[in-house]
Amino acid sequence: MFNKNVDFVKSIGADNAIAYDNVNIHEHNGNYDVIIDTHGNLKHADYKRMGKRGVIVGFTSMSHMVSVLFKNAFSKFPLTQFTAEANTQDLEILASLVKDGKIKVHIEKIYPYTQIPDAITHIEKMRTRGKVVMVWNNTL
Ligand SMILES: NC(=O)c1ccc[n+]([C@@H]2O[C@H](COP(=O)([O-])OP(=O)(O)OC[C@H]3O[C@@H](n4cnc5c(N)ncnc54)[C@H](OP(=O)(O)O)[C@@H]3O)[C@@H](O)[C@H]2O)c1
Repeated sequence: MFNKNVDFVKSIGADNAIAYDNVNIHEHNGNYDVIIDTHGNLKHADYKRMGKRGVIVGFTSMSHMVSVLFKNAFSKFPLTQFTAEANTQDLEILASLVKDGKIKVHIEKIYPYTQIPDAITHIEKMRTRGKVVMVWNNTL
């Protein structure tokens, strides 16, 4: 079955979506301004073939990411690795973008802190659509 999330990503603003179980991304010949890999399975050649520049956000394994960055050390292709840093300033910017409707947030499930093990089990299945939230004040 082709990826169930194609309609979902279109509903939150994507103009086009490619189902990873329908199209082999390592053979895809699209041309894009920037490639942001949020899953972490792209090869160095994929970034170069499809993008003018690239950002590694996700990683399937540390060795895969190191291998991509190692290849890039011998290439002029503009590829960087991004690591999120939680700080007040960035969170305030994100909050204002959400408030203004410039970012659409999808929360799949909210867990009270008493069910943290269940939340972790759910996240570890790596099938989350959007984000999972845990709340600490036990108001649920
Ligand atoms: N750089 C940073 O600072 C940072 C911070 C947080 C997380 N990360 C990394 O970012 C990645 C994503 O994390 P996450 O928390 O969003 O959750 P996740 O559980 O890793 O991602 C789940 C999503 O990935 C999709 N997916 C699974 N296989 C895929 C593939 N081959 N190609 C494209 N999409 C695929 C799933 O879709 P289906 O259900 O349809 O399969 C699901 O929507 C992870 O690698 C994580 O380590 C990086």
